[in-house]
Amino acid sequence: MTIATAPGKIILAGEHAVVYGQPAIAVPVWQVAATATIEDAAPGAGCTLLAPDVDLCLPLATSNEIQPLVLVTRLTLQALALPPNPDWQITLRSTIPIASGLGSGAALSAALVKAIYAHAGRAVDPATVSALVFESERYYHGTPSGIDNTVIAYGQPVWFVKGTPPTPFTPCAPFTLVIAHSGLAAPTKETVGDVRQAWQADPAHFEGIFNEIGKIVHQARTALEAGQLANLGELFNRNQALLEAIGVSSPILTTLIDAACRAGALGAKLSGGGRGGNIIALVTAETQTAVQQALLSAGAHSIIVTTVGG
Ligand code: MEV
Repeated sequence: MTIATAPGKIILAGEHAVVYGQPAIAVPVWQVAATATIEDAAPGAGCTLLAPDVDLCLPLATSNEIQPLVLVTRLTLQALALPPNPDWQITLRSTIPIASGLGSGAALSAALVKAIYAHAGRAVDPATVSALVFESERYYHGTPSGIDNTVIAYGQPVWFVKGTPPTPFTPCAPFTLVIAHSGLAAPTKETVGDVRQAWQADPAHFEGIFNEIGKIVHQARTALEAGQLANLGELFNRNQALLEAIGVSSPILTTLIDAACRAGALGAKLSGGGRGGNIIALVTAETQTAVQQALLSAGAHSIIVTTVGG
């Protein structure tokens, strides 16, 4: 039996603008994870993908290639020059909330790729996992930048620019984020598609905003490398204002962000595609509990606390 896992993720700064060539920073969230388990099946049984949490049972031989997990399984078997339908039972499980901006789809695909390599007795590097997962991201996102598959495959904070190799980095000092789920599912494909339509209608205006977001991401990296958390919080707030300007925030996200800031967060913003999904609030040891309570009182559906770096 072979088991592989992959973490969830959040975008610290730069979502949406990253699709248009600006940099973005993302970090893994190891408090939630996807797991793929491969067991050998009876000879002739073929390969079956099971996801019991969502009642999915996909025999590889007869399943539609459009299904992203089927697609990534086929591509990984091809990359390893393995037979197209090995006698395997693959079970997928995840504690990552679906359509919440935490990269649930990419994490399932990454766990699957890593498990297939391990079951075949082959080593795999993060760049290879990322490239294979990217193919399934196209299904989930339409025109993904590649940041989600990258941070999930590398499992560490990354500086990412579309089309170039990522730079993994370690923040100078650890910092803590409260991640609050709005309770609204928000498929990234939809918000990315809406931003694309708006950009096509007024490219100069939108590119101006994307450039401003890019500058904030550069400043956020400087703040992270210098351990200047107050600056980072302020940059979250400025990034959020620009995300509102491109139309991907929503009343529930604004309510949660305001509640976190009033309770003492250093800054807060939506993370990922927006409209629903999660917000992130930067907290200190002194403000963490008050921020968590304020978020729950303001209607947060669930909370994850994660510490990055250190
Ligand atoms: C999704 O986590 C981040 C977006 O920028 C989309 C992408 O980069 O593919 C909204």
